[in-house]
Amino acid sequence: MRNKIEFYLNGKKMSVGANYAKMMLADYLRYELGLTGTKIVCGEGDCGSCSVLKYFPNNNFGKSYFILINACITTVAQMDGSSLITVEALEEDGELNHIQKTFHQGHGSQCGFCTPGFVMALAGLAEKRKTENALSPLSDQDVKNALTGNLCRCTGYKHIIEAGKNVDLEKVQLLKDRYFSDAQENDLKNIYSTPVTIEGEGFRFYAPKSIDDATRFLADHPDTKIISATTDLGVLHNKRKFKIQNVVSLHLIDELYSITKDQNKVSFGARVTFSALRSFLKTDVPEFSEYIDIFASPPIKNTATLVGNIANGSPIGDSPPVLMALNAVLEIKNNSETKHIPLKEFYLSYKKTKLSPGDIITGVTFDIPSEKQNFFALKNSNRKDMDISSVSMSMLIDWKNKKDLEIENISLACGGIAATVLELKKTQDFLSGKKINTQTIEEALEIFHTEFTPLSDVRSTSSYRHIVLDHYFRRCFSEISKGSN
Ligand SMILES: Cc1cc2nc3c(=O)[nH]c(=O)nc-3n(C[C@H](O)[C@H](O)[C@H](O)COP(=O)(O)OP(=O)(O)OC[C@H]3O[C@@H](n4cnc5c(N)ncnc54)[C@H](O)[C@@H]3O)c2cc1C
Ligand code: FES
Ligand code: FES
Repeated sequence: MRNKIEFYLNGKKMSVGANYAKMMLADYLRYELGLTGTKIVCGEGDCGSCSVLKYFPNNNFGKSYFILINACITTVAQMDGSSLITVEALEEDGELNHIQKTFHQGHGSQCGFCTPGFVMALAGLAEKRKTENALSPLSDQDVKNALTGNLCRCTGYKHIIEAGKNVDLEKVQLLKDRYFSDAQENDLKNIYSTPVTIEGEGFRFYAPKSIDDATRFLADHPDTKIISATTDLGVLHNKRKFKIQNVVSLHLIDELYSITKDQNKVSFGARVTFSALRSFLKTDVPEFSEYIDIFASPPIKNTATLVGNIANGSPIGDSPPVLMALNAVLEIKNNSETKHIPLKEFYLSYKKTKLSPGDIITGVTFDIPSEKQNFFALKNSNRKDMDISSVSMSMLIDWKNKKDLEIENISLACGGIAATVLELKKTQDFLSGKKINTQTIEEALEIFHTEFTPLSDVRSTSSYRHIVLDHYFRRCFSEISKGSN
C-alpha cells in the first residue's frame, strides 16, 4: 500500500502527501510550485486557461499520447500514476517552441492571459497528430475543434485560428520524446500496480486495485464519496457547494477501463471517458458518437466518464436520454451483491437514483441498433459547443415492416422536461404496432405533449421546450420517410 500520490511533472518525479494531494491541481501548480503559466479564470472547466497535458497509461485511446485536461477542477490526488506537462515545459533551449513562436508572430495574443491555454490545446493537437503520424497541414476545422474549450476575451478568434493553422507539425518536437522515457513508463506501471491510501489534513483518499476492495471500503466508510474525473464534483467544490474530502477513486482498477463488444452488445466500464466512447462508437452507433461531438469540450471529454454523467442524475445530462432510448442496463456492485438495473428504472426524483450507500456502478451495457431499427439522438442548447442541453430527445424505432413504416415498438426518452430524464411511455404505447403516416404522427404528438410540463428557466421557456421537441419528433419521422436515416 502506498501512502503518497506519485506522478511525473515535466519529466520530474513528484511524491506528495495529503497537504498537497487535496489541492486543486491548478492551485498546486501556481501557488506551491510557482508554475504560474497555468492560469485560473473560471475555475469551472469552461475557459481552458488552466489547460495542462496528461499521460495516463490506461487511457482507452489505443495509441498513448499526452491529452489535454483542465487543471482547475481536478485534485492533485487524481494525478496519481500520470505524467503531466505544463506550459513551462514547452520552451526549447530557453526559447519559445515552434507553436509559441507561431502564436506570437501571428498576433494570437493581446493581454496573454488565455494564451498558455490556447498554446497547450495546440500542443495537445500536435501531440495526437504526430503520434498518429498524421502530418498534413492543420485545417480551419482541426484548429477550431481543438480550441473548442478555450475562451479569449480580447484578441478575437480570427488571429488565434490563423496562428493555429500556421503551426507546421514537422517543426514540433513530440513532448513524449522530450519528457517521457521507458524508465518513466516502467515506474508509472509500478505506481499503477499498488493501491494508495492518504489520510490527514482533513482529506482521506483511497484508491484500491479491485472492485471488491472498493466495495468493502465503502461498506466500512459510508461517509465516502466516489470520485471519477470530478468534472461535476470539481465545479461544485470550487463553488463551495461540496468538498472533495473523503473520497474513493477507482482510477487504479483495470477492468473499469474496459470496452467490450460481443456480437451486437457493447459494454463500457465505469472509467470509460466520453472521448473513448465517442471514438469507439463512430462506426457502430454514429448517431451517439456525433451527439458526443457537442458534449462539452475536448479537455472535458478527455476525462469525464459516461458513468459519472449517469450517476450525477441531472435532468439535463446528455447521455441518459440516449442510453434510456437504447434500453441500457447498469451493472451495480456493492459488498454483498451485483445488481442489473435498466436505466429506465434508475432515476427516482430530482438527482435521486436507485443507488444505495456502498453501491458502485461498474459499467453500462446496451445493444447496437440493428438494420431493422432507426436511432436518433438530438440535443438543443443555447450555443452549439460547450453548453448544457435545454432539451434533448432520443428515439429508437424497432420496425415490424420498415418498408411499410409499420412500427413493432418504440423507445423514446427526453431530457430537460422534468425533474429527471423521462421515458415517454404513453407515446411509446400509442405508437407500438402503428403504421406511420401524417395522422398517426399528429395523434402521437397530442399524447406526447401531455406527458410533460417543463419548467421555464434561464435556459429556455416551457413553450420553447415543447416546440423544439415537437420539431425533433417530426424530424425523426420525416428523415425516415425521405430515406435519409
Ligand atoms: C465545462 C463543462 C462542460 C460540461 N458539459 C456537459 C455537457 O455538454 N453535457 C453533460 O451532460 N454534462 C456536461 N458536463 C458535466 C460533466 O462533465 C458530466 O456529467 C461528466 O460525465 C461527469 O463525469 P465525471 O467522471 O467527471 O464524474 P464526477 O464529477 O467525478 O462524479 C459525478 C457523480 O457521479 C458519481 N460517480 C462517479 N463514478 C461513479 C461510479 N462508478 N459509481 C457510482 N457513482 C459514481 C460521483 O459520486 C458524483 O456524484 C460538463 C461539465 C463541465 C465542467
Ligand atoms: S480556469 Fe477556466 S477552465 Fe480552468
Ligand atoms: S489575449 Fe486577452 S484574454 Fe485572450
